[in-house]
Order: sequence, then structure tokens, then C-alpha cells
Amino acid sequence: MELSTKIPVITPEGVFIIGTYKEDGTPNAMNAAWGIQSDYGEITLFLAKHKTTDNIKRTGAFTVAMGTVDTVVISDYFGVETGFKANKIEQAGCHVHKSAHVNAPIIEEYPLTLECEVKSWDDETGILVGKIVGEQADESILTDGKVDLDKMKPIMFDISTLSYRAIGPVVGKAYHDGLKLK
Ligand SMILES: Cc1cc2nc3c(=O)[nH]c(=O)nc-3n(C[C@H](O)[C@H](O)[C@H](O)COP(=O)(O)O)c2cc1C
Repeated sequence: MELSTKIPVITPEGVFIIGTYKEDGTPNAMNAAWGIQSDYGEITLFLAKHKTTDNIKRTGAFTVAMGTVDTVVISDYFGVETGFKANKIEQAGCHVHKSAHVNAPIIEEYPLTLECEVKSWDDETGILVGKIVGEQADESILTDGKVDLDKMKPIMFDISTLSYRAIGPVVGKAYHDGLKLK
């Protein structure tokens, strides 16, 4: 059956929480589904005009935290309220500290956060490319020093039903399972 291409289902999409500082130093956060790793040390996000983009243009820096099962409500809130009107971090009851590497806040409720410098920002296309200069993880999500997704419980955005879904169990080994067909 042919589907409408108005809102194509591209899946999985992420739940990326972009942290920035406003001009008065207040931290802000927004939710973005449209983002992807574009090199080992690089993330690319696709953004309309927001308080976040104003902040990024001024500071040249941002953080990206990954949404988790335990942060669904605050993550969604960061996507339905704007920093133009509200102090979202305060309203969400979040705790923040400044990244040691970039001029952007780390939201302590999230267990995994990238620290990024702006590599490029295009006002017309809304394409933001960030150079990842640091990454912070809570000990609680590590196993043998590696991020353990079973402990972290990341979520994805399901554009088909406008839901957040937990990410499931391991079903195969990358760069390995296909070798048997080679
Ligand atoms: C699930 C979800 C995904 C979103 N994804 C994006 C996105 O990829 N790009 C974007 O520009 N806005 C996206 N938004 C909208 C922004 O998060 C929203 O406009 C927010 O209020 C911007 O906050 P700010 O004005 O404080 O920066 C998304 C919102 C939700 C709820």
C-alpha cells in the first residue's frame, strides 16, 4: 500500500536534548528528533528558529543529552515550551552545571551528554554541525568503562504515533553477523 509522503516515517529518530545558555546566563534546553552522528567526532542537527538557535549563534556552543525512560516527561516538556517565554530548567526541576569544555550547561538528570562547539550553523537550512569536544557519562550507566544501553535506557521518538519508545534488547552483532553470508 502506498503511504502519504507528507509525514514520512523515518525510524528510529532520536530524543536529543540541546542545552544552551541564554544571554543572561540562564540555562535552556530543547528537544530535537532530527539529528545524527555525521563523523566520529561530529553531530548534525536540523533546527528551525528557536531560543536555542539564538543562544547557539551567540555562544558558539551547546550540549546534547540523550533522552531516557527516566527523563521522558522533562524531555517532552523541553519540546513543548520555549525558552523565549519560560525558565524551562527551573520549571522542570533540573539541576545543571557548566561544562568544563564548552560554554553550555550539563543537565544532571541526563546520564549521557555530549559537549559541542559549533562547527557550522546555516541560518537558511537550519543545519547545525557540532564538533564533539567532550562527553560526560554517569558511572551508573557504565559497564567496564563503556556506556551500557541496558542501564541507560535510552528512548527514541516514534513519528508514526508521536510517542517515545524504549530501545530494545541486543538482536545481533555489528560487523559480525553478516560475515557468515560473505
Ligand atoms: C518530540 C519532539 C521533537 C522535536 N524535534 C525538533 C527538531 O528536530 N528540530 C526542531 O527545530 N525542533 C524540534 N522540536 C521542537 C522544539 O523542541 C520546540 O519548538 C521547543 O519549544 C524549542 O525550544 P526553545 O525555543 O527553548 O529553543 C521537537 C519537539 C518535540 C516535542
